[in-house]
Amino acid sequence: MLTYGIKVVTRIIFALRFLKLKGFFDGDIMKLVGERIAIRNLKLSDIDAYYIYGSDQLVGPQAGWKPFPNLNVAKNVLSGHIVNKETFAIVNKQNDYLIGTISLYNTALRKYNKAKSLGFSLSSKYWNKGIMTEAVKLMIEYAFTKTDCEILEVGHHSDNYASKRVIEKCGFNYDGRLNCYKRLYDGRLIDADFYSLTKEEFERKRLDE
Ligand SMILES: CC(C)(COP(=O)(O)OP(=O)(O)OC[C@H]1O[C@@H](n2cnc3c(N)ncnc32)[C@H](O)[C@@H]1OP(=O)(O)O)[C@@H](O)C(=O)NCCC(=O)NCCS
Repeated sequence: MLTYGIKVVTRIIFALRFLKLKGFFDGDIMKLVGERIAIRNLKLSDIDAYYIYGSDQLVGPQAGWKPFPNLNVAKNVLSGHIVNKETFAIVNKQNDYLIGTISLYNTALRKYNKAKSLGFSLSSKYWNKGIMTEAVKLMIEYAFTKTDCEILEVGHHSDNYASKRVIEKCGFNYDGRLNCYKRLYDGRLIDADFYSLTKEEFERKRLDE
């Protein structure tokens, strides 16, 4: 009897997870539209583009994650992101093709529930065209106008100069460096630089523009 009950519960959990992956509970669909890109929820049908982007050897390591070794790993990571709804697709506005991702998630650095952290990565084919700067600006606006976020933070490995530049161009203030911030999957021990932007600063900057 107990085994039967466990089986039923397990099946219900699987069914709910499947429905969630298919978007059945999508009360909170998000779509932000910029000049060249849009930011939207990830979908299972993004998998081919997601795998190409995430297996790019130039992308993951700079952001601290291991490039996808195969399609199955990419599928698992993508499914997790779809369920968690903290990571979004950056797509070409013209054809909806995924070229990168951007995340807005609870930060572990600040003990404040209205603080969020930003993370982002872009397929190397699209670097240095201002695309991530456009994406981060859209996300800042989203975080401060559509969620209860009051402070945004963002960090980069201390030797990641492209990321540093994106963060500066988006108006963040430098908070400081954490030495020995993290040991990465490949054994590297990295320092990281952190920045923040409060809702008040965001609103003041918007008024000045
Ligand atoms: C970091 C990243 C998202 C930047 O995206 P992007 O669309 O190329 O960024 P932008 O074009 O908006 O801006 C890049 C800026 O960095 C500058 N830059 C690029 N490489 C640089 C380098 N090695 N040294 C100094 N500046 C550099 C560019 O010149 C540009 O600045 P500018 O507009 O003043 O000329 C992209 O390189 C990436 O995905 N890298 C791998 C993953 C990663 O590092 N993610 C961030 C983790 S914090």
